[in-house]
Amino acid sequence: MTSEPSKGDNVYFNNPESGAEMARLIDQDRYITEGMGGLLAERSNDFSGIHRILDMACGPGGWALEIAYTHPEIEVVGFDISQAMIDYARARARVQGLDNASFRVMDMQKPLDFPDDSFDLVNGRFVLFIPTSFIPAFLKECMRITRPGGTIRLTESEWTAPSTSPAMEQMLGLIGRALKRVGQSFSPSGKLVGITPMLRSLLKDAGCTNVQHIAHVIDYSSGEPVHDAFCKDFATVYRLMQPFLIGVGVTTQEEVDRLQRQMEAEMMRDDFRAIMFILTAWGTKP
Ligand SMILES: C[S@@+](CC[C@H](N)C(=O)[O-])C[C@H]1O[C@@H](n2cnc3c(N)ncnc32)[C@H](O)[C@@H]1O
Repeated sequence: MTSEPSKGDNVYFNNPESGAEMARLIDQDRYITEGMGGLLAERSNDFSGIHRILDMACGPGGWALEIAYTHPEIEVVGFDISQAMIDYARARARVQGLDNASFRVMDMQKPLDFPDDSFDLVNGRFVLFIPTSFIPAFLKECMRITRPGGTIRLTESEWTAPSTSPAMEQMLGLIGRALKRVGQSFSPSGKLVGITPMLRSLLKDAGCTNVQHIAHVIDYSSGEPVHDAFCKDFATVYRLMQPFLIGVGVTTQEEVDRLQRQMEAEMMRDDFRAIMFILTAWGTKP
């Protein structure tokens, strides 16, 4: 029996109401934002001209709250499907006295409950896990709620490869195959997620102009400052993903348990080497 609430029919690979997932995302937000060079690295973290920001599938709200804290003149809105994450983000905004940050429960697979032309910047980091067939409709909604001249900004990665850990490579292979099986991968073989080569064209197809991108690299090899954080993240995220991987039939409990143990041991080796690539693409609503 599990004490975690059930995943329901959500397409996210982890249970969004899980406390363990929320704790993981709180930590992950810190090292990902830092590894990306700050909140808005492609503009040298310059928010001038930006007054209203939406952070979609904001999780516990770390990115949005940091902007609200550092830029009291900016109004930041976040939404997520998880009531638990939104409750947490609201609580943090309240105790920090951030009247310029608000958070709502909302499903990005449904029409977004914001008027046309609402935001100067519509941001989504690690949100395109939705079925690939649904992404154009989702981006159409993003376009609708962005003001003319405003920006849509998407950040994605091909997960956490490559590394020297054979078990991690196998685990990522399972994830790739599972996502492919449920229509949440652009990869022809299912070996990757395949989202990064698509980002710019998805924005162009949605009608964005001046579409650009920038890549960031996080080295989480042994000895690097973020190594420990990644070890903790992986100990959680891959365990939380087990029901999804087993449920879509790409592995067994026995195999995934073995890989998890092996991966955690390989990550602790002094000669463990690993890189995560992150791509941010952005474009302008004409
Ligand atoms: C990988 S996390 C990214 C969180 C945050 N954007 C960040 O970068 O820290 C994905 C988030 O999507 C949320 N989510 C899952 N399905 C969703 C849906 N249909 N609509 C809105 N949010 C969703 C999850 O609850 C989770 O917080």
